Amino acid sequence: MRFSASLLALASLAPLAHAATHDLIVGTFGTKALYTLEFDDEALTLDLVANTSTTISSSWIALSNATSIGLDKAVVAGGNCTSTSIYVVADPHPPYAVYGSFFGGDAGCGAVMSVDDGVLDASILNYTYFTSSGVHGTAFGPDSKFIYSADDTGNTLWTHSVDSSTVCSHVVYPLKQSNDSASDFWADEVALSASGSYVWATNRARSSTAGYISAFTLDESGAILQQNFLLPTTSTGGAANSVAPSPFSDRFVALTDSSVGFVEIWELAEDGQAASVVAHIDLVDGGCCANAVWYS
Ligand SMILES: *[C@@H]1O[C@H](CO)[C@@H](O)[C@H](O)[C@H]1NC(C)=O
Ligand SMILES: *[C@@H]1O[C@H](CO)[C@@H](O)[C@H](O)[C@H]1NC(C)=O
Ligand SMILES: *[C@@H]1O[C@H](CO)[C@@H](O)[C@H](O)[C@H]1NC(C)=O
Ligand SMILES: *[C@@H]1O[C@H](CO)[C@@H](O)[C@H](O)[C@H]1NC(C)=O
Ligand SMILES: *[C@@H]1O[C@H](CO)[C@@H](O)[C@H](O)[C@H]1NC(C)=O
Repeated sequence: MRFSASLLALASLAPLAHAATHDLIVGTFGTKALYTLEFDDEALTLDLVANTSTTISSSWIALSNATSIGLDKAVVAGGNCTSTSIYVVADPHPPYAVYGSFFGGDAGCGAVMSVDDGVLDASILNYTYFTSSGVHGTAFGPDSKFIYSADDTGNTLWTHSVDSSTVCSHVVYPLKQSNDSASDFWADEVALSASGSYVWATNRARSSTAGYISAFTLDESGAILQQNFLLPTTSTGGAANSVAPSPFSDRFVALTDSSVGFVEIWELAEDGQAASVVAHIDLVDGGCCANAVWYS
């Protein structure tokens, strides 16, 4: 649903708080605003409830109160991991190692770093992608037995199995159709569903063709059993097409677009084999939308 001035006024005067509604916060590229959206999972409506001015633009936002990773010490990954480090994800399970990925140039590797008292300590392990890879997003599976990586330059989703001493290359799934030109796409995001039963991944299109959204069914350990679908998104996604599974149900994910400026809620089909848009809101401010985080 498109927001209107009257809806915005109504929402700010009488905030509704029943169990079916959930809040999301959306960041932008370059505009100084954070948007609070409210999704009603029964009425399937998506409304703007707050437009909060910020002093700087907030492109990739995260809400976290977990163990913080200090920047007191820079760790050099070594080996082939010589290009720009772009993404880190902290293992939520002991020993809480941090996994870093790289982008551009020699980026065909990931580096595992130990953490001592919240501060990066040392590079303890390397793992490999293709020499042509450039990984832009990573996520852990349930129990951290697997790590999933969205390979931007390879337009693929990787799974690596993880144990305390090795990170082994496992399986690679495509995030484009075989007849698509790889250079038209730049895969970005991967995220685990609320129950840990699905992993979602998206691909951004560089040209005027649509990007892709894909979901995979996982077994209890987090190994991918199948790629359920690879569907075109509404737009290229711009620099976003960022997927954020809801924390309250496996059914819903938020998807952001910066080519137009919108947020959508996609619903997974009952059998998990398809997904479709159930709510859409335009937020056209010249910079929206980067990513969305669920707040409730
Ligand atoms: C984060 O955790 C700290 C310490 O546990 C707590 O004092 C603080 O209220 C938490 N903040 C939020 C936003 O939950
Ligand atoms: C990573 O690999 C490179 C060689 O490719 C090696 O020089 C470096 O020591 C490795 N780092 C670790 C922590 O194993
Ligand atoms: C490092 O990169 C070179 C060339 O890019 C490649 O031949 C070599 O196999 C890589 N080493 C590892 C450990 O991935
Ligand atoms: C790829 O093939 C499908 C049909 O199999 C077609 O719908 C689509 O337009 C093709 N894409 C390109 C880029 O040719
Ligand atoms: C949010 O507020 C700012 C500042 O008033 C405005 O420039 C922007 O267009 C608003 N965003 C939307 C989506 O209306």
